[in-house]
Amino acid sequence: MKIWTIANQKGGVGKTTTVASLAGSFVKRGQRVLMVDTDPHASLGYYLGIDSEQLPSSLYNLFLANKTLTADTVQMHIVPTNVEGLDLMPATMALATLDRSLGHQEGMGLILKKALQLIEDRYDVVLIDCPPVLGVLMVNALAASEHIIVPVQTEFLALKGLDRMVKTMLLMGRSKKVSYSYTIVPTMFDKRTRAASAALLQLTQDYNEELWQDVIPVDTKFRDASLSHLPASHYAPSSRGVKAYNRLLEYLIAKEPSHVKLG
Ligand SMILES: Nc1ncnc2c1ncn2[C@@H]1O[C@H](COP(=O)(O)OP(=O)(O)O)[C@@H](O)[C@H]1O
Ligand SMILES: [Mg+2]
Repeated sequence: MKIWTIANQKGGVGKTTTVASLAGSFVKRGQRVLMVDTDPHASLGYYLGIDSEQLPSSLYNLFLANKTLTADTVQMHIVPTNVEGLDLMPATMALATLDRSLGHQEGMGLILKKALQLIEDRYDVVLIDCPPVLGVLMVNALAASEHIIVPVQTEFLALKGLDRMVKTMLLMGRSKKVSYSYTIVPTMFDKRTRAASAALLQLTQDYNEELWQDVIPVDTKFRDASLSHLPASHYAPSSRGVKAYNRLLEYLIAKEPSHVKLG
């Protein structure tokens, strides 16, 4: 099972869209995919037409039950989506209280990792969506994953947020004595604007190695897809945006060939 986290401490940069799009593309390749929403805003659930506040269980309950988890109880916190092969572990607003209530307890940073290990043979791919704040949820997401995808809007102010995210990964990696592998993904690229090209140039200069040498274009199909509660890969498979996410997927798989077997 492959686990990727999509993170950036800035909001509105395309994290949730990247999770849904990559998830959809993986499903189209016959993979069993689980998305984990760790953002208390629960945008990923709403995107897919799931109102998690109405569900009996969510990621929050999993955190509370962490001492007694088994594969079957982890599965109880997962719901199917309207796309076959695509499941969701939903977030709820209650998650926002975790930092205060449980943040200081020993081992809190590894709950998600342990839970996902229990269901290792049930999914081929897990994609974790993150809130735009560094707290116990993002710490869990980073600790659980093998690779981090950092979407960054190709716009000058967003680059500052990227610096912060990269520093966070360095600091967390140092404290855990690991080095996180990550890929920066330029998003919402509008080739007609000079600002977008300038931001892309800056990214190339600052992050050559970790930068995906391509872009996700600005594409209105993404917003339409979310209104239809479908991953863009299923809503508009031949759109420019989906083609770009498919290229990203190829690139990420090639970067770590041992993790996913496509069949
Ligand atoms: N490539 C894109 N082109 C156009 N709109 C996009 C693109 N990616 C995301 N969006 C839109 O931008 C908004 C923010 O994206 P979202 O994925 O929710 O960001 P985040 O999760 O980082 O807050 C959403 O309305 C989404 O539909
Ligand atoms: Mg989001």
